[in-house]
Amino acid sequence: MPGCFAHLDLHPNAIELARRRVAAGAGYIDLTSSNPTWQSLLFPPEILHAASATYWATRRYAPDPRGNPAARAAIADYYAQRVPPLALPSDAIFITASTSEAYLLLFSLLADPGDNLLAPNVTYPLFEYLAELRQLELRIYELDEARGWQIDGASLLAQADSRSRAVLIVSPHNPTGAIIQAPLPALSTLGLPLICDEVFAPFTYRAAHTPPVGALHPDLPVFMLNGISKLFALPDLKLGWIALNTAAEVGYSERLELLNDTLLGANSLAQSLLPSLFAQGMDFVTAMVERVRANIDLALAYGTTCPALVMQPPDGGYYLFPSVHGHHDEEALVLSMLEQGVLVHPGYFYGDVPGTHLMLSALTEPALFATGIERLCQALGK
Ligand SMILES: Cc1ncc(COP(=O)(O)O)c(C=O)c1O
Repeated sequence: MPGCFAHLDLHPNAIELARRRVAAGAGYIDLTSSNPTWQSLLFPPEILHAASATYWATRRYAPDPRGNPAARAAIADYYAQRVPPLALPSDAIFITASTSEAYLLLFSLLADPGDNLLAPNVTYPLFEYLAELRQLELRIYELDEARGWQIDGASLLAQADSRSRAVLIVSPHNPTGAIIQAPLPALSTLGLPLICDEVFAPFTYRAAHTPPVGALHPDLPVFMLNGISKLFALPDLKLGWIALNTAAEVGYSERLELLNDTLLGANSLAQSLLPSLFAQGMDFVTAMVERVRANIDLALAYGTTCPALVMQPPDGGYYLFPSVHGHHDEEALVLSMLEQGVLVHPGYFYGDVPGTHLMLSALTEPALFATGIERLCQALGK
């Protein structure tokens, strides 16, 4: 059958079938959720109400191919306050319907069918689908678990060839939490544009800050992706953006404007809310970050009593990706945990990584998180 995804087996996998069965019976604690709106993390509705009332009273459709100017100014201000600060003109910001749409625009901007992109061996599972939409190959570079899942420069260099068009980077990384703290010589050697996903930027744990990669690598065109799904826990409002450092702006902004104009995917209401989200939403962001840190503290404390679970403190992000000793079949392990009332993801959902790993989300509502971690440790034979 022709068309995207025609080759995929779209039947539910064994874990999903078991999950449905357990959900219909005894139930389980979900330690995999990335959805803040189901974890009692609701952006203050009064801020949304007040800001949207202004929109409804004054709305006029005035599309701008880069996005609402006031929203872009608020985003530029956000980069000016990052550590280290990154000064960007608001014309270097392109507002999109989501980070996922932003990726697709950049894949179209930077590569032709048959070209390749360099992507990490562990990652949240979106790149392969987006790459297929543009008929691009993903060439896989490695993250080094022994060095806190930092990018392995040698494997990056080894994977690149004459059809490589960009490097995909996620910092803080999903699911390992690794944050890029300093310029990477291998990236400078390659000289390729960087597509850098920073949606978890405020969520730091071991690291004090998430440096914007555009500031670390002024030598390269850097496209920084972010949006309100994670930053403000508003995945339903659908708004993302691409911020270009100077090297990217000089070379690519005109064509990116035309690409964004081709879809004009970002809705005007969400764009109009953005200045209020930044101006009034930071206390909520701080509370959310503190929840995640407290959950990670708790998981690390449990980890010390559970020898099978090797849990390293992450740089940031809101997931944990511990390795598990003494168990070699990730799927069997996840199925047995589900029988004991806790859902986690097997490492193989996130790529082909040596060893046995599990993925847990520290976004989870704290009381459930604590019980879920306890069940997990019991299942591992604490
Ligand atoms: C690293 C990363 N980037 C992007 C996204 C999706 O963001 P958006 O809702 O803006 O498409 C996710 C969603 O889980 C994510 O984990």
